[in-house]
Amino acid sequence: MTHPLRIGIWALVHGNRAALNDPEEPYDASWPRNQALVQEAESLGYDCVLVAQHTANPHKESLDQLEAWTAAAAMAATTSRIEIIAAIKPMLYHPVVLAKMALQIEHISQGRFAINLVNAWNQREIVNAGIHFLEHDARYAYGAEWLECVTCLMQGERLSHHGAHFQIEDYMLRPAGTFRPRPRIYVGGESEPARALSAAQADVWFINGQPLPDVQALIADVARRPRPGEPLRYGLSAFVIARETEAEAQAAYERLLALAAQDTDIKAYVKANTDPAVVMRQTMAKSIRVGTNGGTAAGLVGSYDQVAQRIAAFHAAGIETLLLQFQPFEAEMRRFARHVRPRIAG
Ligand SMILES: Cc1cc2nc3c(=O)[nH]c(=O)nc-3n(C[C@H](O)[C@H](O)[C@H](O)COP(=O)(O)O)c2cc1C
Repeated sequence: MTHPLRIGIWALVHGNRAALNDPEEPYDASWPRNQALVQEAESLGYDCVLVAQHTANPHKESLDQLEAWTAAAAMAATTSRIEIIAAIKPMLYHPVVLAKMALQIEHISQGRFAINLVNAWNQREIVNAGIHFLEHDARYAYGAEWLECVTCLMQGERLSHHGAHFQIEDYMLRPAGTFRPRPRIYVGGESEPARALSAAQADVWFINGQPLPDVQALIADVARRPRPGEPLRYGLSAFVIARETEAEAQAAYERLLALAAQDTDIKAYVKANTDPAVVMRQTMAKSIRVGTNGGTAAGLVGSYDQVAQRIAAFHAAGIETLLLQFQPFEAEMRRFARHVRPRIAG
């Protein structure tokens, strides 16, 4: 069963999504900007906001970086309808502490909070903090055990857990279950262990932007896996450039491509810090694009009608949640709400 389409945005935790130096979007990853952005997104009818988690700025350490969990709590307190999804890297937070934080934001938001478990690509963020960076599949084994503990605690259950990584004795958290059984769980990642973890423990599997046939193949692979409870749902990241005509959209795309080409220092820094084993790197290498997490590789560059039709095709393929990026963000977010959203049924 396909659920109604939900459309959300990426918060600007590290500023611009496509190119750092853009005269139309000066760098700004501040709280006031993000607060205004999320409040406006809510008033425009967007369904959710993803707050990515990075401790230091992953593109350039000297640039500002919004802290995901404190910002998510503040967003929860200053909005009333939009779902707030905060990313989390298990190696950085003990499951008891993280479950407590999640339950508190669930309470502040009155049942609108979700976590997005991501298993890290930026080795520098972890290693330079003095934390051992496990290899790719071992990170997923750690993340699976971590998520079992967090889920149990978020459900308000009493937890005693003795595993390879955590020893937790007779622990229970309150308040829990006030608004629904627990916050929603997303998992972001595409590798084999990411798929297994999603099938076993996630509510929503969240993948990088890529062409429709690739998305259909990924969904088919995960949907055939046995899993407990409700069927898994699917989310896709995408960078949108929509205009009245295809030619205008193409010109806007080329403007961003030219600006992004200037970010050679950022690309080199990201490459040097990326774990070569992460599948995200291979997905991104498949095409020329702008934006993070697949960006325009999802093909949402075109006329208003084309973009609406392509989104409808992703929805028909099983994508229930789209998390969008734009540049300049606020202006393009408004344009999408005005011209593209009304053209999409559901
Ligand atoms: C939708 C999505 C959101 C992500 N958000 C973050 C994030 O907030 N912080 C981060 O460090 N990595 C983020 N990542 C990247 C993951 O950490 C990275 O892809 C992870 O290593 C999963 O690897 P895999 O694709 O090899 O399974 C995200 C990935 C996806 C697909």
